[in-house]
Amino acid sequence: MEETEAPPQDKRFWGNAPIALSDIKEQEQTRFSTGISEFDRVLGGGTVEGDVILIGGEPGIGKSTLLLQASATASQKGKKVLYVSGEESLSQIKLRADRLNVSSSNLSILCEVSLERIIKFIEETSPDWIILDSIQTAYKNGINSSAGSLSQLRECASDLIQLAKKDSKILFLIGHVTKEGLIAGPRALEHMVDAVLYFEGEKTGPFRILKTFKNRFGSTQEIGVFEMAEKGLKEIPNPSEIFMSRSPSPAPGTVIASSIEGTRPLMVEIQALVTTSTSMNFPRRVITGVDYNRVLLLLAVLEKTFGTPLHKYDLFINVVGGIKIEETGIDLPLIFAIISSFKDKPLPQGALLVGEVGLSGEVRGVSNIKARIKEAEKLGFKKCILPEVNLSSLAGGKIECIGVKDIVSALKKFFPN
Ligand code: TYD
Ligand code: MG
Repeated sequence: MEETEAPPQDKRFWGNAPIALSDIKEQEQTRFSTGISEFDRVLGGGTVEGDVILIGGEPGIGKSTLLLQASATASQKGKKVLYVSGEESLSQIKLRADRLNVSSSNLSILCEVSLERIIKFIEETSPDWIILDSIQTAYKNGINSSAGSLSQLRECASDLIQLAKKDSKILFLIGHVTKEGLIAGPRALEHMVDAVLYFEGEKTGPFRILKTFKNRFGSTQEIGVFEMAEKGLKEIPNPSEIFMSRSPSPAPGTVIASSIEGTRPLMVEIQALVTTSTSMNFPRRVITGVDYNRVLLLLAVLEKTFGTPLHKYDLFINVVGGIKIEETGIDLPLIFAIISSFKDKPLPQGALLVGEVGLSGEVRGVSNIKARIKEAEKLGFKKCILPEVNLSSLAGGKIECIGVKDIVSALKKFFPN
């Protein structure tokens, strides 16, 4: 049955007369650090008063762990923190806290699902930071649907957001999202909150990436990188180092790509495997870590311009470390990885690739080329294959920069036969 919902009502701005833009006084936004710098980075430098942050992710990815660690560091820095859990018992949370080796007298835990009681407790104890783990377990009386339903989610979130805004509190809402994003879940709350962060990664691997999807108080492109270890999440301040598998000798199908995530250059290893297709009609395309449709587009460009009969081959693509790259600067690396595997020839050792590829096979310029080259130098790369148009902004570095104009001439140069 279709649920009927009232639109979320944001009463905090009501009743004000319009005011000239030039007369509005700027308010100094002081940032408060979570004590975890990769987390701060994604938040745009820390939390601000009245900030409401939604943290989504698949069950088991590490949301509770991250927030419990941040609660502990924030409380040690003087914030009064309330962690409300509707998912775990006090003893389970205590076990996790012991495992994480966190403890603080400024951090209180409340196991509760009733929204009325949660709000009452907040009003009585007046914490600065509130974490609700998770929004799907909160239940408001008088709404005729179960916890986790769309109406409950919206009503509970709306009440808590109003409270946070009114008293300038910092509110974190944790929400579960399935891989398919099917459940109504946190997606329905995205427009109500100030920031939406998603926690991603392959659950079988150790790396976790915190991504900004929306942020009213900061950039939306930053990522925070963590490793899930024995004692909780560890920050990875130099992610390039872990996203390259450091194979001792260059292997066919493997290339290193330079990407930019937010303001941070990131080197990633891309692996392609091209094998004779077992089914002539439906060659397999198994793609992880990059956009599926983008790869199909590049395959079409390769067939048309370079004449490689890829429709007869199965293709597997993987980005090492379980990260997903969305930047178009990895087009050229992807093309090189595919042809390198197809021809079974590796690229020269210490070479790095970057470039966007257009539909006619032209190689287009990329942004932030200086930052990328600087990172590559730091990591000891010797050569960079990059768009020719980017060459003019580079002068006299330690890396040999090889400019390319289109994929056909570039591939002919590096794979002469
Ligand atoms: P959790 O934070 O409970 O995930 P979520 O709240 O997103 O559902 O994390 C669950 C996983 O993390 C669990 O499979 C165990 C693992 N883990 C570690 O590997 N090390 C640790 O120190 C902790 C606390 C959890
Ligand atoms: Mg949890």
